[in-house]
Amino acid sequence: MTFDDLKPKITALIADSSSKDRTLQLICNLLKAEIPHYDWVGFYFKNGNKNELKLGPYSGTPTDHTIIPFGKGICGQVAVSNQNFVVPDVKAQDNYIACSISVKSEIVVPLFVNGKNIGQIDIDSNTTDPFTDADERFLEFVCQMVATLM
Ligand code: SME
Repeated sequence: MTFDDLKPKITALIADSSSKDRTLQLICNLLKAEIPHYDWVGFYFKNGNKNELKLGPYSGTPTDHTIIPFGKGICGQVAVSNQNFVVPDVKAQDNYIACSISVKSEIVVPLFVNGKNIGQIDIDSNTTDPFTDADERFLEFVCQMVATLM
């Protein structure tokens, strides 16, 4: 399914939402199922007042990394940079937290509510260098839609 096909499906899931976590789970399931190069899809959120991220709903292999300190790994860096982080080849990154040996690349896009970075969507891919500007624009759209639930 193309990103343009998926956008109205995301909009509908948000419009029909009765439970935030359930809706986030359905979004993870949809993206993992419909986008061939998305092999793990999950949300991390700032954990209360702590300078750390806590894993929220996800679709894919369970990860040990349910808590990630700010600054650590790709996710922790995005928590402080407020910028998209596209990693074409995880082997080339020093500050990277490996979740599975099959993962080759990663993209993390921050989620803003009222201009504040409150979390992120994290995608792992088993393909090297699969992400383009279209992934970034699509995931920014997903994060903007999810922000309306927060
Ligand atoms: N690789 C991430 C850790 C989270 S897993 O991808 C689920 C990172 O370096 O922050």
